[in-house]
Amino acid sequence: MATMIPAVSWLRACWTLLVCCLLTPGVQGQEFLLRVEPQNPVLPAGGSLLVNCSTDCPSAKQVTLETSLSKELVDNGTGWAAFWVSNVTGNSRILCSGYCNGLQIIGSTDITVYRLPERVELAPLPPWQPVGQNLTLHCQVEGGSPRTSLTVVLLRWEEELSRQPAVEELSEVTATVLAGRGDHGAHFSCRTELDLRLQGLRLLVNTSAPRRLQTFALPVTPPRLVAPRFLEVETSCPVDCTVEGIFPASEAQVHLALGDQVLNATVTNHGDMLTATATATARADQEGARQIICNVTLGGERLEARENLTVFNGPQIDRAKCPQHLKWKDKTRQVLQCQARGNPSPQLRCLKEGSSQEVPVGISFLVNVTHNGTYQCQAVSSRGKYTLVVVINIEARNSHFVPVLLAVFTTLGVVTVVVALMYVFRARKQRGLYHVRQESPSVPLTSMPTEAIREEPSRVE
Ligand SMILES: *[C@@H]1O[C@H](CO)[C@@H](O)[C@H](O)[C@H]1NC(C)=O
Ligand SMILES: *[C@@H]1O[C@H](CO)[C@@H](O)[C@H](O)[C@H]1NC(C)=O
Ligand SMILES: *[C@@H]1O[C@H](CO)[C@@H](O)[C@H](O)[C@H]1NC(C)=O
Ligand SMILES: *[C@@H]1O[C@H](CO)[C@@H](O)[C@H](O)[C@H]1NC(C)=O
Ligand SMILES: *[C@@H]1O[C@H](CO)[C@@H](O)[C@H](O)[C@H]1NC(C)=O
Repeated sequence: MATMIPAVSWLRACWTLLVCCLLTPGVQGQEFLLRVEPQNPVLPAGGSLLVNCSTDCPSAKQVTLETSLSKELVDNGTGWAAFWVSNVTGNSRILCSGYCNGLQIIGSTDITVYRLPERVELAPLPPWQPVGQNLTLHCQVEGGSPRTSLTVVLLRWEEELSRQPAVEELSEVTATVLAGRGDHGAHFSCRTELDLRLQGLRLLVNTSAPRRLQTFALPVTPPRLVAPRFLEVETSCPVDCTVEGIFPASEAQVHLALGDQVLNATVTNHGDMLTATATATARADQEGARQIICNVTLGGERLEARENLTVFNGPQIDRAKCPQHLKWKDKTRQVLQCQARGNPSPQLRCLKEGSSQEVPVGISFLVNVTHNGTYQCQAVSSRGKYTLVVVINIEARNSHFVPVLLAVFTTLGVVTVVVALMYVFRARKQRGLYHVRQESPSVPLTSMPTEAIREEPSRVE
């Protein structure tokens, strides 16, 4: 007691001295003491107590309690008076006084007030603590008296990690622990102990709200991602992502994605191994070079694996952009408008059935009757081929005009021959007459021109 409250002890010494001085001159009063009960009480801050001042002096008078605390006379009798002292908020000393045979007699006691800490709190823990790293726990204690009787204990479950006296009015007590896998889910707390056993009371304990620790460990190697290198549009393939040495595997988050398309993954874990599987289906607008992404997050950290994947189309010929029946006129320039698409880009060729004669595609060319026929237009890439049948009909140019022209030419030819014959015949006739007039005595009249006429047409024809 004396070591705990030195100021009070000092005061008591003074009072004792004062009482001695006062009593020394007394003759009979010295034999009688004024008792104060209870002696050296300890009570909680704001508490109340009944104080009895009594003496064995038969002629005791004016027994009273002197204090600045609020008091009330409860009862009294010969040589005693009892008071109800309330709202004791701090350590104090109370004094009883009275008169015995005309001499003043005095008694006193110290009241010790105790107070539980107003705040005992364990500072928040990091949301995730890496396994193998030190974690420092901080406990804040505010208030509490007497301080000399106050101790702070840091706990993991009920295990004491550290025990330290709370010296300052506002103290922070720390302890460091090496976080392990076993600490995942552990509860940490902080406890204050106000030890009033020496004062005849109990050990008064206050405990903070517990805080739960989450520990984690990630492997140094990235996830193992298994996916095909090529995927055809509108087809599916399995995607697997595996992580080993992850703790706690059940609390890791896994994302699987094909480009920006999040895949619906099924996640299973066994021990420290985590496997996510999903089925990836490529959309038509995802054609080209893409990535399969697997990211695993745990404890605010991320592991990521990416694999390249090419989304391809089998080659195709767009039917809307490739007329399948064409009627072209002979000797005109035409373009066979056909387009093939696909990834990788296919090669397009149109070959005539039976003859393998090729017709140019997308280029202007001079049409002739030999182009007439049925063509196999084929788009070919390393991913496959696609065939479309195209029929080309070549119409001979001005088909009605040709026979007419032939008839005209024939008629003209006949007319020309007839005119020519008439001219030749007439010329021979005139020449014959001339001969008749000049050589009439020796040449016969009719035989010569007849032969000449017969010879000449044979030469013409
Ligand atoms: C006070 O003390 C006296 C003497 O010991 C006793 O007779 C009396 O009953 C006490 N009063 C109360 C209220 O306890
Ligand atoms: C108790 O005492 C304090 C000061 O010591 C005072 O402020 C408070 O009002 C008192 N309470 C009662 C109930 O008397
Ligand atoms: C953890 O702290 C202890 C001392 O408190 C120290 O000896 C040890 O090296 C620390 N370990 C790590 C991993 O920081
Ligand atoms: C995801 O897959 C599960 C089972 O594999 C299925 O029940 C669920 O409907 C799927 N969700 C979506 C959005 O596809
Ligand atoms: C993990 O991947 C998904 C899908 O690609 C993405 O939305 C998410 O932001 C990624 N997570 C992190 C932490 O980057």
